[in-house]
Amino acid sequence: VSQATTDVMFPLSPGDIGVSRDGCVVGLHPIALSTAVALGRQCAAIDPWQRYGISASRLTSSFAAQGDGGFRYELTVDHVTAGALIILQPWLIGPYVQFIAVLPAFQRRGVGQVVLDWVEARARGGRQRNLWLCVTAFNDDARAFYAARGWKQAAVLPDLVADHVAELLMRKRLI
Ligand SMILES: CC(C)(COP(=O)(O)OP(=O)(O)OC[C@H]1O[C@@H](n2cnc3c(N)ncnc32)[C@H](O)[C@@H]1OP(=O)(O)O)[C@@H](O)C(=O)NCCC(=O)NCCS
Repeated sequence: VSQATTDVMFPLSPGDIGVSRDGCVVGLHPIALSTAVALGRQCAAIDPWQRYGISASRLTSSFAAQGDGGFRYELTVDHVTAGALIILQPWLIGPYVQFIAVLPAFQRRGVGQVVLDWVEARARGGRQRNLWLCVTAFNDDARAFYAARGWKQAAVLPDLVADHVAELLMRKRLI
């Protein structure tokens, strides 16, 4: 896949990408620095990042980073900050969802579904064979979410982020 095709696969500013179950507009936008700071604080306060002890400043840095092949987005619901999405592409014969968070006030309204549907549609449009992500073994809610949407466990990665905790490498085959 050429660089040009990759750029089109994950545009810098996708804008509106769908509608939640309760009729709110879901959007993806570039992350402003002030938003990266706010999102760092909000994500550090929820699992799995809270349980791992990952700091707000470290999360902010990952939202604000540049030049590593990451596509970084602020997620909005009716134009209010509702979470974040980071995709690495190219990764392993398909993109890697490095980070996805829907903040608690916006969960279970179909927003995560809209986001994953968008990632999948973009990857399919780019004729990618796979989607990838890691989910922490203790993150039962997220595991249920992915399992119900066709993701399969591809590998167990023991002690990846911290001792005695496994990450599960999840794959969704597109072809
Ligand atoms: C996992 C996450 C991305 C899902 O996003 P979402 O917008 O809440 O998901 P949706 O509303 O589209 O789908 C919700 C589905 O996920 C599963 N799910 C989510 N939260 C759940 C919970 N507390 N208990 C059981 N199932 C849950 C269910 O299958 C649920 O479907 P239902 O609402 O029809 O029962 C979001 O909850 C989140 O960001 N959680 C915190 C951070 C995190 O764990 N990120 C993933 C790291 S790999």
